[in-house]
Amino acid sequence: MENYSHIFDEITSKIISLVEESKSLEALVEIKNKYLSKKGEFSQLMIKIREVADKKSFGEAFNAARKSIEEKYDEKADKFNQELLNKKLESEQVDITLPGNTLSRGVENPFFKVKKEIEDIFVSMGYTVETGPEIDFDKYVFELLNIPKDHPARDMQDTLYIDNNLLLRSHTSSIQAHVMEHANGKPIKIICPGKTYRRDDDDVTHSHQFAQVEGLVIDKNINLGNLKATLELFAKKMFSKDSKVRFRSSYFPFTEPSVEVDVSCFNCHGKGCPTCKGSGWIEILGAGMVHPNVLKMSGYDPEVYSGFAFGVGIERVAMLRYGIDDIRRFYQSDIRFIEEFSKKVED
Ligand code: PHE
Repeated sequence: MENYSHIFDEITSKIISLVEESKSLEALVEIKNKYLSKKGEFSQLMIKIREVADKKSFGEAFNAARKSIEEKYDEKADKFNQELLNKKLESEQVDITLPGNTLSRGVENPFFKVKKEIEDIFVSMGYTVETGPEIDFDKYVFELLNIPKDHPARDMQDTLYIDNNLLLRSHTSSIQAHVMEHANGKPIKIICPGKTYRRDDDDVTHSHQFAQVEGLVIDKNINLGNLKATLELFAKKMFSKDSKVRFRSSYFPFTEPSVEVDVSCFNCHGKGCPTCKGSGWIEILGAGMVHPNVLKMSGYDPEVYSGFAFGVGIERVAMLRYGIDDIRRFYQSDIRFIEEFSKKVED
């Protein structure tokens, strides 16, 4: 058995000392390319295997030499990599004593809080929520609600027209008309929240744009007592456990009889105070039994079906509930107002 290690000794110790002296990862890679790559000086020594007698011993000697170089190489490469990592960690050091960036919590506009609350109350009573178009045809805003072209009631809501036949809806009752049209004479139990537009004189309690929630129930044997019980439950949940409601007779073309609904003052409980202007009662909404003409126009037989409807102003409820003095505050996005309000609610 031959010993061929002497063939590799010189070059091996040369490469190892070059590796030891190298000052960077790049220098190391250069050594690898020059000596250890396929065409490298060291690898080329393998060609000599053709000339030797004991090829096995030659191969072993070659592998042993390569192994000793590679060990040194890996050791050095690890050292450089560790140095690089340390440098990186040092430069990216985080000062954990610095104060963090605080994100302030958003506050919901009271309008949306109350809208959601109204929806929740009625959904808990089995109503579904419907919406409709804000720009609507005369037919749905007026005609199907028993307000023909020449009806004086139009004056009260005379409003913002797009053309002769299209207008910004002046109440959410128009959504009723849409739902009834598609109900095929079946029972209905819905609330319809949405924006409404009127030619109104703006003051602290009126705005040309505001929002309502419409309610509509149609079925057999629906009566005024059902309406009163429903609204009383709503008032109790929205204002105060001992809230009562009272009806005053009123007029709407689409309901008969029609009522104006007051809720007992939740501030003074009926004694009289500035909130209720001394009367003990606060007006909150309009309502009534669906007019037979409205039922007929949408395909319901008024001898079989009856129903009630109501329309409540969302801003009005929110103003009463939270003692807000000016309707415009809902729309101005004044963060100071909204934050103030959130404190009031949490207290
Ligand atoms: N639509 C009426 C209004 O806007 C409110 C209302 C709705 C009255 C339903 C009765 C029944 O003033």
